[in-house]
Amino acid sequence: MAKTKQSSPNLPGINAAIIMDGNGRWAKKNALNVTSGHQRGVDVVRKIVESAAKAQLESLSLYAFSTENWSRPKKEILGIKKLIINAIDSQVPELINQEVRLNFFGDYSSFGDEIIRAIHQAEKITAFKKPKLKLNIALGYGGRKDIIEATKLIAKDIKSEKISVDDISHETIFKYLQAPINELDLLIRTGGDHRISNFLLYHLAYTEIQFSDTLWPDFTDEEFIKCLEEFSKTERRFGNRTI
Ligand code: IPE
Ligand code: IPE
Ligand code: MG
Repeated sequence: MAKTKQSSPNLPGINAAIIMDGNGRWAKKNALNVTSGHQRGVDVVRKIVESAAKAQLESLSLYAFSTENWSRPKKEILGIKKLIINAIDSQVPELINQEVRLNFFGDYSSFGDEIIRAIHQAEKITAFKKPKLKLNIALGYGGRKDIIEATKLIAKDIKSEKISVDDISHETIFKYLQAPINELDLLIRTGGDHRISNFLLYHLAYTEIQFSDTLWPDFTDEEFIKCLEEFSKTERRFGNRTI
């Protein structure tokens, strides 16, 4: 019998994120170099973004490179840099068609001027006022660094009397953090490990977290839709008594 294509649940207003882990192990398993694993990872991103837009998510934030990943071999980092530049080049026209707004966050300056220019240009030409999906890419991002930098900015603004100590609220902190989201509803981590690896620390307070053993290059839109379905069935209590 022919396989029927799953229809994705509609989740307007939902902010999801993915820790896309497992490229290296996938490459090793397939006797390929690590850059080929990252390349396959980029190919998967395209399909998942399409599914996220179909599901009407508000935003999808993808962890592409962490502050800790700078300690990887130079060759791997150079490979990732080239892949990102190529991916921007080849995927931005599709993002424009789908009315997806692209936004990078993190400190990616060490990747060099070429990538900075490509990112700024891509952000400019996808800056839809009412995008169908906000696609946020964490590049050179670390949750701790984000909190540290936000704290410094708040301290400076208090010192210059732009804000007062009493202005510091939950919302103020979101405003000062670099990650372009507030509440995070769903986080998926592929690759079998059960950790956060310094991703969106402040935003994770009430996030539903799902772990998949699938290595990121093997992750499919079908599995992504299953994650969204499971999320939509979850009762979120936020500390309340509901029975
Ligand atoms: C995730 O895949 C991508 C990045 C961290 C850049 P990995 O490269 O961490 O893959 P594994 O965990 O070694 O399999
Ligand atoms: C998390 O994966 C970072 C990204 C997916 C970009 P890592 O492979 O860097 O995390 P650890 O080292 O397993 O914690
Ligand atoms: Mg990893």
